[in-house]
Amino acid sequence: MDKDIEVLREDYRKMNKSCFILGASGETGKELLKEIVTSRLFSRVTLIGRRKLTLEDEAYKEVAQEVVDFEKLDEFSAAFQGHDVGFCCLGTTKAKAGQAGFIRVDHDYVLKSAELAKAGGCSHFNLESSKGADKSSSFLYLKVKGEVEAEVQELGFERYTIFRPAVLLCDRQESRPSEWFARKMLVPVSYMFPTAYSVPITTLVKAMVNNAVLPGDKKVELLENKAIHSLGKLGEAKK
Ligand SMILES: NC(=O)c1ccc[n+]([C@@H]2O[C@H](COP(=O)([O-])OP(=O)(O)OC[C@H]3O[C@@H](n4cnc5c(N)ncnc54)[C@H](OP(=O)(O)O)[C@@H]3O)[C@@H](O)[C@H]2O)c1
Repeated sequence: MDKDIEVLREDYRKMNKSCFILGASGETGKELLKEIVTSRLFSRVTLIGRRKLTLEDEAYKEVAQEVVDFEKLDEFSAAFQGHDVGFCCLGTTKAKAGQAGFIRVDHDYVLKSAELAKAGGCSHFNLESSKGADKSSSFLYLKVKGEVEAEVQELGFERYTIFRPAVLLCDRQESRPSEWFARKMLVPVSYMFPTAYSVPITTLVKAMVNNAVLPGDKKVELLENKAIHSLGKLGEAKK
């Protein structure tokens, strides 16, 4: 497979596909944007978000931005028109937005965006969900993640990929004490069980991009943390 991934990337580039990213200002989204721009896999890249981002690097000069009001997404359906592939890295926390706010973003905004993307012609939708997502969970976070996974599936994308990463390893600027604590605790555990409880964000975004170029033989792909690690390392042996 390591040998093939470069060939697959080259073939993918020739297809001149376009993509959008939701949540490009977040930790995953910004790293994903970097990976997408560096890999030059897409002929057009559009960020859809609630604010315009300052992208000073020359590499981002072709990146388009659509600013939308997520509370009135129907009025912004044009932003979702004509993208072949969509990556959704939206999300908030209960601590930041409260319970209702968390459901609004992680469920309502995600589902509505997916609906508009489908109507706009998107054939491959990629959703960043979470390890343990389960619509029957008694934990709100996991339940909401599980519900939105299932409801997006019902939209019937030609190809739908769900990523279920464990704790994301990154240098987050925003203060999130519980996540910070979990990451610190996970350092020795990650050393012993590297693919079980955490994943570096750089590995996750490589997995997202590598997976996109693989011929998707399943309509719905569910990628757990271990699979994300494997996909994220494709092609590394050659470097
Ligand atoms: N953190 C972890 O360890 C972890 C583990 C597994 C799964 N996940 C999931 O992975 C996804 C991405 O996580 P992340 O840590 O990369 O996210 P993040 O850094 O918190 O970024 C979240 C993105 O969502 C946008 N967003 C948040 N609230 C919004 C609102 N009210 N309206 C519009 N946009 C809003 C943010 O935009 P602004 O910049 O404008 O706020 C940002 O672009 C989330 O769904 C999360 O639940 C996280």
